[in-house]
Amino acid sequence: QGRIFSGIQPTHGIHLGNYLGAIRHWVRLQGSYDCIYCIVDQHALTTLQDPQEMRRNTREAAAALVAAGVDPKRSILFVQSNVAAHSQLTWILSCVARMGWLNRMTQFKEKAGKDRENAPVGLFTYPVLMAADILVYKATHVPVGEDQKQHLELARDIAGSFNRRFGNELFPLPEPMILGEATRVMSLRDGTKKMSKSDPSDQSRINLTDDADAIALKFRRAKSDSILGITYDPEARPEASNLLTIYAALADRPRAEIEAEFAGTSFSEFKSRLADLAVEKLSPINAEMRRLQADPGYLDAILREGAERAAAIAGPVLKEAYELVGFLDPR
Ligand code: TYM
Repeated sequence: QGRIFSGIQPTHGIHLGNYLGAIRHWVRLQGSYDCIYCIVDQHALTTLQDPQEMRRNTREAAAALVAAGVDPKRSILFVQSNVAAHSQLTWILSCVARMGWLNRMTQFKEKAGKDRENAPVGLFTYPVLMAADILVYKATHVPVGEDQKQHLELARDIAGSFNRRFGNELFPLPEPMILGEATRVMSLRDGTKKMSKSDPSDQSRINLTDDADAIALKFRRAKSDSILGITYDPEARPEASNLLTIYAALADRPRAEIEAEFAGTSFSEFKSRLADLAVEKLSPINAEMRRLQADPGYLDAILREGAERAAAIAGPVLKEAYELVGFLDPR
């Protein structure tokens, strides 16, 4: 029935957008697919170049994923740099991908900013590494938030191009799975901007490491508008719409139902209900993260075993790719 692959960068802590847009789906999909989940430290290196922080964030991401319900017995959970096949396949794919395809990537344009001459080369080739992540497992489905859609289209183009050039159907074309209501959670300070790890304001996002007081305070201070009642209208009321979406996703109920419930409620009342719900859903994860982080040996063992299991799948696929392009087998 197919294989799932998805990844998360250990750039900063994991936030509510990551959780609602991706991780909670990763957890559910474990019941029906063969799942591989990866902490993509090599992707994070494009922007995070502090070794201490890299180590800390990588372990914290592992704790967050396990605490949120990624089960290392059912799924493979590992760190990207621990499985060399990702980088090895990246080189081959970077000889298939075209400059023009990468030039169209909006995330590069956003992240590189105006000073493009000074952007790391890895930031430009980032989507090729991402394609390799997926294809080296012959993954068929990739659960992500809305912002990764363009990268996944590129991964499909690269897979198709490799298949045509070197050998029919080595790589299945991976299907994006963009699931649920909260495919694009917005900043709490500005309803037109994505909730993001790179936003300088910590007030703009709820982190999985935030305690109950921090969560309540951030929702209380979240930007609102002066219209009475809470209604869904992303154009005219981006903040109200975002908070409604977050509520619906956390409650796991249809958005229209939540909208009907709060149509006559004031912002301050709604925010306090939302904060209560968020604390109820997130504090068990937060507590479990702390418990797991107290025993780094346990997490490291999970990641080590995950890397071994991942390498056992990726190795033979890489070997097939090497043969198809004509690289000699050293044995
Ligand atoms: P990253 O680390 O930025 O985010 C991890 C996941 O969280 C989703 N996400 C969001 N969903 C809804 N609202 C938001 N505000 C929000 N912010 C983030 C992302 O869509 C993603 O699913 N390039 C990827 C990591 C990656 C990857 C892969 C993903 C590397 N290789 C292979 C899938 C397959 C990234 O930077 O995600």
